[in-house]
Amino acid sequence: MSARIIDGFAIAQKIRSEIALEVSALKKDGSSPCLAVILVGENPASVSYVTAKKKALAEAGMADKSIDLSSETSEAELLNIIAGLNRDTSVHGILVQLPLPSHIDEQKVIAAIAPEKDVDGFHPVNAGKLLIGRPGFVPCTPYGITVLLKESGVPTDGAHAVIVGRSNIVGKPLALLLARKDINATVTLCHTGTKNLASFTRSADILIAAAGRPGIIGADMIKPGAAVIDVGVNRIPDNTKKSGFRLTGDVDFQAALDVAGLITPVPKGVGPMTIAMLLRNTLHAARGSFK
Ligand code: GUN
Repeated sequence: MSARIIDGFAIAQKIRSEIALEVSALKKDGSSPCLAVILVGENPASVSYVTAKKKALAEAGMADKSIDLSSETSEAELLNIIAGLNRDTSVHGILVQLPLPSHIDEQKVIAAIAPEKDVDGFHPVNAGKLLIGRPGFVPCTPYGITVLLKESGVPTDGAHAVIVGRSNIVGKPLALLLARKDINATVTLCHTGTKNLASFTRSADILIAAAGRPGIIGADMIKPGAAVIDVGVNRIPDNTKKSGFRLTGDVDFQAALDVAGLITPVPKGVGPMTIAMLLRNTLHAARGSFK
């Protein structure tokens, strides 16, 4: 058996062109969506994500306000910049790329963003809305995974979804989304404290690897025919590459191909969907959907 490889890039492209049409309609109505993108320091992965996000915004016809700050920026300075962006009516959304340098309290920064401009969906108000099923910004990666499952025709009603990883950005919000009535999966949330991880993953109809550990999911941990979604983006040193590294997921991809029914590759799987959902959230912000 060889798994069907889900082309996240192609699905994301389709969504991005739909969004571009919506953006041009919004512009005709006199509103021009603008996202402030804040990068603190020069973490190479963050620089590459931010570059990709800005390129996607431009291609969708949306503006970005780039704010690149030194790694020495104080927490007070950053909070002050966010306060200014909250007041600026020409800015519809605010994104602070994570992680932040260790001298800055990430949760304090996230809480300083106006909830109606929080396109990442990380603010406690949006996290709370997701918990109780009210409309609000949904974090881009979990949101993208739900769209990927739907677009790929993966049945979710009554399916057992096993998530490996309990981060605020992926694992926890994804558990809430998959358990919603419209998706209706039975969710198991595994993490570093889980004993006998394989006993859980092997019963998954949908397995989501979001642990940030290269190759943690081996072929023997996958139920034959399962849908496997790999959220891991791990940089592995590789001298044969010009960049000096290659990207690999949390799943042993080659081995998993023989067992899974469906699988996302790394890169070009979940990553492009995250960006497409950021565009969708920015459009919501410009429309004032969650005010
Ligand atoms: N770092 C890793 N993923 C994300 C994301 O989705 N948003 C932000 N702001 N930072 C991240």
